[in-house]
Amino acid sequence: MIERRVLPDADKLAAEAAGMVIEAILARPRETVAIALAGGSTPRRLYDALARRRDELAPAMRRVHWFVGDERLVAPDSPDSNGAMIRRHLTEPLCAPAENVHLVDTRGRSADDAAACYESDLRAFAEGDGRADPRPLFDVVLLGLGEDGHTASLFPGSPALDETARWAVGVEQAGLAPFVPRVTLTFAALASSRLTLILVAGSAKRPILGELASGRDLPASRIRSAGRLIWLLDRDAAGEAAAPSRAV
Ligand code: 6PG
Repeated sequence: MIERRVLPDADKLAAEAAGMVIEAILARPRETVAIALAGGSTPRRLYDALARRRDELAPAMRRVHWFVGDERLVAPDSPDSNGAMIRRHLTEPLCAPAENVHLVDTRGRSADDAAACYESDLRAFAEGDGRADPRPLFDVVLLGLGEDGHTASLFPGSPALDETARWAVGVEQAGLAPFVPRVTLTFAALASSRLTLILVAGSAKRPILGELASGRDLPASRIRSAGRLIWLLDRDAAGEAAAPSRAV
């Protein structure tokens, strides 16, 4: 099921998304919960909104696992590192246990190697205690949208778009700065979710939302979810563009 919601501005969008993430975590009070995280400025506002609600999340922190959805091959403390941003804005403010924070180890590795290691971590988690029943890999998948239609590090024209077996792959060429190799979850992994939120804010995203609405085949239009898929847009992004749900 694909839904679309328009919020008045980027802060309200972040607050709405934070409420949905918290609801998903609290809805399963005895279960391990897995959340895939996006990079980018729009998701970052959501992480700040979640960090502000730390007291509500505190009792659940031991059972929530956070997974980076894509990473750039840069040093772990680089300003371009999605992991560094996630640590600073989300997992450190929430005091998430270190073993529950699943980042891509980029040190001294090729993109393919880093992806293979990350996939092992994901598979170990998926097969581990408490997750023996068949269930989606992620309870929540959070994604952003690039002006070129990419999501995670799935760029238009990339061989990564055609991967159907692996959960994480290396991406040699980024379609957008920083132009460094990346690691990304694949469509197959991202689709294994109970709830997927695609967060889109700002008027710069309006043209690409128009392209999606007109049915252009772009990485973001290939996103699926085993559960609910919700496009959360702010008013600047939505503009007059028709619902992306026509195209995805
Ligand atoms: C990344 C992201 C990427 C991002 C979009 C949207 O590593 O850059 O994961 O997919 O979410 O580019 O980013 P903005 O919200 O900053 O536009």
